[in-house]
Amino acid sequence: MKKLIAGNWKMNGSLAANEALLTALAAGLGKIPSCEIAVCVPACYLPQVQALKLTHSALGAVEVGAQDISAHASGAYTGEVSADMLKDLGCRYVIVGHSERRQYHAETDALVADKAKSALAAGITPIVCVGETLDEREAGRTEEVVKRQLAAVIHANGHCISEVVVAYEPVWAIGTGKTASPEEAQAVHAVLRAQLKAATDQSARIKILYGGSMNAANAATLLAQPDIDGGLIGGAALKPQDFLKIIAAVPV
Ligand code: 13P
Repeated sequence: MKKLIAGNWKMNGSLAANEALLTALAAGLGKIPSCEIAVCVPACYLPQVQALKLTHSALGAVEVGAQDISAHASGAYTGEVSADMLKDLGCRYVIVGHSERRQYHAETDALVADKAKSALAAGITPIVCVGETLDEREAGRTEEVVKRQLAAVIHANGHCISEVVVAYEPVWAIGTGKTASPEEAQAVHAVLRAQLKAATDQSARIKILYGGSMNAANAATLLAQPDIDGGLIGGAALKPQDFLKIIAAVPV
């Protein structure tokens, strides 16, 4: 399967900064990349990013995603953005259950599972994030935590689980400069792969991304692991040259 390199811009950017970033990305992409590429941008900038895709043909290879979605279809949910709205704006992906949303917005496993369901119902691929905190890792609970988080999404989505992308993002590695070693990441990816295999006979098509301080220097060894099917990149996705280097590090 083709690997996926997805940028998560988080709450960063401006009209000017986004244009500069995507223009630099377009200039560097050149030939057809050997992997799939996506940028998950703040919802308010989705129309701008779609417009920039039309002005830079090299961005044709770049899919657009959002960073969150409402579990509700429509109605009195002030501030929320629905799956149909994201679909309207041309979203191919949406991140659900990022640890920052679990931590700062008290998102539960059940809510994350519902959000994945809303996305799938609208034909948007959810990038479902799972990952343990440092305390949980040190207590030897990594496997239990990521399996519990993924199980909720499997349970709520039945056979549609084959349509999701999973991202393993150890919380202690996000924005800290501490990356899981390729062996540590691979070990958790293998656990997730086995769980997906038990859930669907279509598991071979499910991408499992690694996220957490992935950068131009460490991407190649992480992406060489057998069960690491791509990356979900935070900080380095805001620097076009670094993002391009990660894309170039994808083994062909
Ligand atoms: P960093 O790459 O900045 O550690 O962030 C990872 C992440 O949270 C991507 O969703």
